Amino acid sequence: MKKASASKRNRPVNAVLDDPADRFGLPMPFGWFAVARSEELVTGEVLPIVLAGEEFVLWRGEDGVARGIDAICRHLGTHFGHGGKVIGNDLRCPFHHWTWKGDGGVAGIPYQEKVPLKLSKACDLALPIHEDLGIVFAWWHPKREKPLFAMSRVEEVADQGWIAADYREWIFDVHVQEITENGADVAHFPALHNFPSPPVPEFKVDGYFRYSSASSKMPTARGMVEGKIDVRAIGPGISFTRFWGITDMLMLQMQTPLDGSRTWLRHIYFHPADLESSKVNVTRKLIRNTAMQLEEDAKVWPHKRHLEKPLLVKNDGPILEYRRFYSRFYAGGE
Ligand code: FES
Ligand SMILES: [Fe+2]
Repeated sequence: MKKASASKRNRPVNAVLDDPADRFGLPMPFGWFAVARSEELVTGEVLPIVLAGEEFVLWRGEDGVARGIDAICRHLGTHFGHGGKVIGNDLRCPFHHWTWKGDGGVAGIPYQEKVPLKLSKACDLALPIHEDLGIVFAWWHPKREKPLFAMSRVEEVADQGWIAADYREWIFDVHVQEITENGADVAHFPALHNFPSPPVPEFKVDGYFRYSSASSKMPTARGMVEGKIDVRAIGPGISFTRFWGITDMLMLQMQTPLDGSRTWLRHIYFHPADLESSKVNVTRKLIRNTAMQLEEDAKVWPHKRHLEKPLLVKNDGPILEYRRFYSRFYAGGE
């Protein structure tokens, strides 16, 4: 976890940086993050991943369950991602063939009759995993605390049979907090994204969840239509944006910190299986627009800094509320 040192805090905001990656000085937030698409995690294969500046491996056992632990074997430091093998539901290290369970305990040591009790127990090597919506999610916490909140059901997909219409992904040079601050920063929408006026969201917080809702008139082939956009965010890594009015669409957005200045962003777009064809076209256009907006943001992000005390005016939107909410995901924060 990166912490701003005293010298960093005291440096002028326009200081030339030795390491341009060090533009944010923000730590890594805890939460659930997307780490792979389900189809990328094939039964019997080991998948190395990077999450919040740490290395882990994922594997899928013969029972079909996704598991994850630290990438580095605690025996003598081998990286499981290079030669590790899935044996049944466990992971075998290439160096001395110890086998490890998904709960972080040792299952077997080939040259030792019995695994010492202490080593066989579940431990914080394990990466808690939750798989849903075609995505493998992992819980990350800098102090390896167990999940503090759960992922919730997605009614549209679970009960109403909505289908995934499209998937897109990007890696952006930006700290993960900035990706979602973008939504609270309403004044940049007209300036950067050519919106006729800034969206005026209602912003609500409930524990580790955040909600916002904005209505606006949207141009369509049938003239101006009253549209509504609701956002429901589960921690810092996942949000659902529901579009009403001009079409029925649910955008699952997943931002996963690779480290303090790089974020892997994934989108899945769902709509009802029987969506009428005129709305399918609107949905396609919305998906293209979303991607276009991100590419506009991505011109700013690689050079942007995080200002602890920005100069804000009243109509800048709920940036400070957003930051207050976000700070609860920094261990020892709010
Ligand atoms: S380093 Fe992994 S079993 Fe020895
Ligand atoms: Fe934006």
